[in-house]
Amino acid sequence: MSSQAIELLRREHAVLDRELQQRLLEVGELAGATPERATVLQQGLLRWVERVIEHDDWEERVLFPAVDKHSGSGGHAFTATLRHEHQLTARWLADLRRLIREGASSSVIARRADQLLGLLMAHLETETAVLEHVLETVTSDHVFQRDMLARLSRPPPPEEPDDD
Ligand SMILES: [Fe+2]
Ligand SMILES: [Fe+2]
Repeated sequence: MSSQAIELLRREHAVLDRELQQRLLEVGELAGATPERATVLQQGLLRWVERVIEHDDWEERVLFPAVDKHSGSGGHAFTATLRHEHQLTARWLADLRRLIREGASSSVIARRADQLLGLLMAHLETETAVLEHVLETVTSDHVFQRDMLARLSRPPPPEEPDDD
């Protein structure tokens, strides 16, 4: 049976992945949207990326320290690349926000938004492939479980209803 930590992460990532697919569709809609619709889509995208950044903060505060401690990577933090991608996400969000504020064309905004979503897609996939694998190997460690669960500072996202 999977540990609580892995289940928590999987559930959160599954929700983000589903929402990311929706944002991709919306960005595809941007170039041909009316100004009113474009504003709705852009503001929705900004709010969603802010939510992703809250998730990133949670990972850095709760998950990554425990992973680094138990991954045996010594002074070289195992999660260094993932943390850097979190910084990139925040920077590219600021850039997107600036473009929108300055009234850039829909095609320019859509291109930047597409790049940001591509970054997030790759980041999610890396975390799923690498981080969850590491968690699988270390979560049998009762010390990890204790550290991890002690750091959980918010309830997990709600269960998603089955599609079938
Ligand atoms: Fe992350
Ligand atoms: Fe994540």
